[in-house]
Amino acid sequence: MIIYEAVAPANIALLKYWGRLSLRPRRAATPSLSVTLSRSVSVTRVEAIPEQEATIKQGGHQAKQVTMFFPCADLSPNLYDRISYLPHDSGMTNQVDSQFLAKIAQQVQFIRRTLGGDSAVSVVTENNFPVGVGLASSASGFAALTVATAACFWGVAEFSDFDQPSIHKLAMMAKEGSGSAGRSLFGGFVSWRSSQNGAKGSIAQEFPAHHMPLADTIFVFSQQPKKVSSSDGHQLAQTSQLYQLRVQRSESRFIRMRQALLTQDFTHLGELMEQDAIDMHGICLTSTPPVSYLTEDSLKFMNWLVSQRNTGQFEAYFTVDAGPNVHVISKVEDQSDIINRVLEVFQVESVIVDRIGSGPRLQRITN
Ligand code: DP6
Repeated sequence: MIIYEAVAPANIALLKYWGRLSLRPRRAATPSLSVTLSRSVSVTRVEAIPEQEATIKQGGHQAKQVTMFFPCADLSPNLYDRISYLPHDSGMTNQVDSQFLAKIAQQVQFIRRTLGGDSAVSVVTENNFPVGVGLASSASGFAALTVATAACFWGVAEFSDFDQPSIHKLAMMAKEGSGSAGRSLFGGFVSWRSSQNGAKGSIAQEFPAHHMPLADTIFVFSQQPKKVSSSDGHQLAQTSQLYQLRVQRSESRFIRMRQALLTQDFTHLGELMEQDAIDMHGICLTSTPPVSYLTEDSLKFMNWLVSQRNTGQFEAYFTVDAGPNVHVISKVEDQSDIINRVLEVFQVESVIVDRIGSGPRLQRITN
């Protein structure tokens, strides 16, 4: 049996994808720019299953693993993909599990159809970080799934065996699972622009990780599941009066952020990044109905961070995704000092200590 194991990192958007032009294909209303992380990863193992095994259905909970079977409608309704998820924690409900596994199965079918794969597959996926902590587990999850499944259909042994056009194709496929996942196909600083007004869409590395070695420290205030998914948040964004304003500004903000990166101007990058996070949450709060991802703890923390910066304690900037947990972006050399200071003042559930990283890995395991 040959197993294709992909490890793909989460990413954090400095310029956010918030609001869509269409769901399938996924087209974002604005360009986004992210940092690929290094330590927070999803690991996905994919293997082709022989026809006789693909017809035997037997799912359910097994130790920590949840397994479901989905008919390969694109091949034959009598064959089944076997999709398993190993939760990092036991907090996921059955309902979340089955929805999540169904999305994985749908992505497998999409990849198989796109690449002309001809077998049912077994997929086992897990994260090394908990879900719902402000790290998009769907980004790393769909990136790892796409790499491992494509490697299985193409027989590719290492990530470096994919050429640049293939990686771009994988990124474009990964974003159909979850928009932000496309950016996790590359290391360093990554942009995503959707096709619009005749221009073709692209996902690309803007700068490699070593261009500006940044740290991302995630202060986790709550791991409660969010009440409004980011997918629903994208839909609601259009109901906010602030939405069009952000869309209009997005191109110039993208250019300025790229320029700040090019010149390694951390201060300017940080200011733009905070502004964009505030704009995104402003849209959420002014959507109909309003969505509030930030909590009192997150707001208190963000204000404190700004005051520390203004009084010259350290230079760090916040960004927050669709949840209450705050990412602090700093230079690597300041990271441990920042963590110590935060822990003197705030009670947090946990701290995730991460860095900018260089993208997915792949290995072929024969057993
Ligand atoms: C706030 O990529 O999770 O993290 O395409 O519906 O799966 P779907 O959305 P998703 O949205 C991410 C939103 C964000 C900002 C970002 O990562 O750019």
